[in-house]
Amino acid sequence: MATTSIIGAQWGDEGKGKYVDLLTEKADVIVRFQGGANAGHTVIVKDDKFVLHLLPSGILHDNKISVIAQGVVVDIESLLNEIEELKERCGDVTTRLLISDRAHLVMPYHKILDKASEESLGDKKIGTTGRGIGPCYTDKYSRKGIRMAELLRPDIFESRLKENVERTNQILTKLYNKEAISHETILKTYLDYAEKIKHMICDTSIYVETQIKEGKNILFEGAQGSLLDIEMGTYPFVTSSHTISGGISTGTGIGPHHIEKIIGVVKAYTTRVGAGPFPTEDFTNAGTSLQDKGHEFGATTGRKRRCGWIDIVSLKHAIRASGINSIAITKLDVLSGENTIKICTAYELNGENIQFMPALASDLDNVTPIYEEMPGFDEDITGCKTYDELPQNAKNYLMRLEELLEVRIDTISIHPERNKTIFR
Ligand code: GDP
Ligand code: IMO
Ligand code: MG
Repeated sequence: MATTSIIGAQWGDEGKGKYVDLLTEKADVIVRFQGGANAGHTVIVKDDKFVLHLLPSGILHDNKISVIAQGVVVDIESLLNEIEELKERCGDVTTRLLISDRAHLVMPYHKILDKASEESLGDKKIGTTGRGIGPCYTDKYSRKGIRMAELLRPDIFESRLKENVERTNQILTKLYNKEAISHETILKTYLDYAEKIKHMICDTSIYVETQIKEGKNILFEGAQGSLLDIEMGTYPFVTSSHTISGGISTGTGIGPHHIEKIIGVVKAYTTRVGAGPFPTEDFTNAGTSLQDKGHEFGATTGRKRRCGWIDIVSLKHAIRASGINSIAITKLDVLSGENTIKICTAYELNGENIQFMPALASDLDNVTPIYEEMPGFDEDITGCKTYDELPQNAKNYLMRLEELLEVRIDTISIHPERNKTIFR
């Protein structure tokens, strides 16, 4: 295994959590490298459901180490809630969790700013998760953010907090017409938090590199999806981090030559939660049917996910951006019952046939998808154990995807449960 990476190839919620949990059996260390509590990764173990936001999905295995690396923005309140929620079923997970001393903190005012910014955008809003992600990364890249290492030093932390609260209050009161906040309660709360998490904070870059040198198996867990990447996504309707595989190197502090197998997780159809262009969105009964059968509700915000068909143009964009060299399909079972399955193979923009994603969201909003149609299948496939047992039309669909994407489909998920996965 050495290093394996799990990257979402669409707009998130592809089923990354399930695959990370599954591959954790062969891994020693599981590393989250970007994003924050905006993620919602669902893992089903027998009848038990876990939804993880900040904790790597490998945390459910008690003999593995989970790492929250420096590229992640950490909302400590949310982290402690997650740790508490797992206590009954998994024991004290803090004994197997490490947090980077370079990771930035999502502060309460980031969440206030996130909501205020969305309100001010009116019908142009992004539809964020409200978890303070954009404002936290904004502070990080404007070199004003607060990191774990500072939290461990109360003297430094207090002055950094004061500076940040003063600046934020200018924005809140003058730009957004909101009430100012006080740094004192935040200070007390965060110094308490520091006591609770300090034993987990370390230089995770050194830790991960040492593990690689010792020949351990490392699993990198992506959050969000390639089309939400800050560089390669449908900007500005994106998240604020590097969701593509390049984010692994910057987000963990290990060289890119360590990134070997890159698994792109692809839902057998497409969903998107939040605003932004979605060329293959289906507004007919088929879209509603996918939404119903796939139980397509956001794992973090509970919002209905928009649904539509698979989009080869955007998938090829994601494959190129991340160097995806293996595909894991999910939710093939949800397509059962569809008479016809559509595959978007190109877009038409201003009368021209194009095979790439335009840089402007407004152009992507105006493309007309060009579809190829394939006959669907009716069988319940959730009991299939091998590829050969799948109905012929399901196999035909997968083979056509593989041909168009030019990357091998190695794994097919047919049910949320850990073991209901076909390895080809
Ligand atoms: P993530 O954010 O990529 O980890 O995905 P989410 O957990 O947000 O959403 C994926 C949803 O699909 C979860 O509810 C999973 O339990 C579920 N799921 C994963 N794989 C399958 C599958 O093969 N079939 C079905 N029906 N559901 C699946
Ligand atoms: P997982 O890891 C799906 C979307 C939001 C919004 C945009 C920006 O579960 O796949 P943000 O709060 O990040 O500033 O919101 O990104 N978004 C996700 N959509 N799955 C996710 O994570 C997402 N995380 C953020 O809906 O459109
Ligand atoms: Mg999700």
